[in-house]
Amino acid sequence: MSETSSLKTIRLGLAGLGTVGSAVARHLRDESRLLAGRSGFRFEIVRIAVRDKARHLAAGVDPALLTTSWRELVETEGIDLVVELMGGEEEARSCLLAALEKGVSVVTANKALLAAHGAELFAAAERTAASIFFEAAVAGGIPVIKAVKESLVGNHISAIHGIINGTGNYILTRMTEAGLGFSEALEEARAKGYAEADPTLDVNGWDAAHKAIILASLAYGYWVAPADLRVEGIDRVARQDIGYAARLGYVIKHVGVIKAGNGGGEVEVRVQPSLLPREHTLASVGGVTNALAIRGDLIGESLFVGPGAGGDATASSVISDIVDAAHSLDKGPRNAGFVPHGLYGRTKPAALTVSEFYLRIPVRDQPGVIARIAGILAAKEIGISATVSLAPSEMPDGKFNEVILMTHEAPLGLMEEAVEEVAREAFVTGPPVLLRVEKP
Ligand code: NDP
Ligand code: HSE
Repeated sequence: MSETSSLKTIRLGLAGLGTVGSAVARHLRDESRLLAGRSGFRFEIVRIAVRDKARHLAAGVDPALLTTSWRELVETEGIDLVVELMGGEEEARSCLLAALEKGVSVVTANKALLAAHGAELFAAAERTAASIFFEAAVAGGIPVIKAVKESLVGNHISAIHGIINGTGNYILTRMTEAGLGFSEALEEARAKGYAEADPTLDVNGWDAAHKAIILASLAYGYWVAPADLRVEGIDRVARQDIGYAARLGYVIKHVGVIKAGNGGGEVEVRVQPSLLPREHTLASVGGVTNALAIRGDLIGESLFVGPGAGGDATASSVISDIVDAAHSLDKGPRNAGFVPHGLYGRTKPAALTVSEFYLRIPVRDQPGVIARIAGILAAKEIGISATVSLAPSEMPDGKFNEVILMTHEAPLGLMEEAVEEVAREAFVTGPPVLLRVEKP
């Protein structure tokens, strides 16, 4: 008799055996003794759902486990927990709802699903006293969901600044440090298993936005609507902006910002490429690493840094959820996984959010250009705090062709009005680039 045979067995249905699912299956198998010793449970995968059964059979997966139907997986006799690692929205939503309606708890890494359907899913879990575990949905291997939900439960959280997309950070780092082109850097990130099945979401900012929605909802106790977010991706970052930012003492990172006052009121949630002061810890976070600076009234600022994507790192979070789920199956759930409260409830319109800005305007070399730009900004009471002076050797034919400046704080709406007005001037030769400056 093996030393784990007397332990309670948790029967798992694994929906998805891709980058994350295969890492979870491997670690559950290879580390079964460690997990049994630490958790007091045995974990047995009793069903695995995939799309391409033939490929997985050829790779040696036990035919008795495989199905191409997640529904069949959910219906498996005696299943204790469904672990959804398929990705996508509609099929994953139906899979989770089917499990929750049966009273079966779920673990998911699917941030797109939770951001779009979180309220519906947690309500379904509440109805049947099941739970949803989702540590892997934000920041890959960093245990930040547990931190916000449990470890910081006594804090009013005033701000979270985070680099929360590993692929985007990897691409920016490779472009900055190795001089790679955008597509080449993206291909590397895909090959390493960091990118989404559809990497558009990594590039256009929406993967980070999904994570910001989940974090904001946990921190402020209401389900934040995707339509209320301003979302910009790393596709807005040009190589020359990385260079100018460096000359001004900044690093460009893709940053999620979540903020609110301690006493309730409106919550600010946005994600965008931003200039971070070079000396701030977040600015030095490169590659697939994610980092979050969380400010709470009791703790002050706390930093969480670690791998934000990849099979093994994400499996670390999924396995932690599986063990938590096993304990709650044993002792009874504490709650569905998200509990709304009434202290907050409105998201601040993006136009009213305030920050300093970086502005680059392609221009024709003619008298009065800088004075006119400064005048348009001044008319809206937006002050200039710094400029980049180009050496003659940096200007084509010795003529200056770009104005690069930083502003003092202004609301985004006002800043965008000013930029539109500047863009209408005859001396402007291309679309201006406007980036935020964050001072976490
Ligand atoms: P993959 O594309 O590598 O794997 C998806 C798996 O799900 C595959 O095994 C696929 O089958 C299976 N699958 C997809 N659709 C269905 C379906 N309708 N029915 C049955 N099986 C299906 O994705 P990842 O492992 O990278 O990501 C999984 C989830 O984890 C996603 O929600 C992702 O956002 C999230 N995540 C990923 C991270 C990462 O670093 N990769 C990090 C954090 C979260 P088949 O193998 O036959 O194609
Ligand atoms: N594609 C995501 C990223 C996976 O690169 O951050 C982790 O959520």
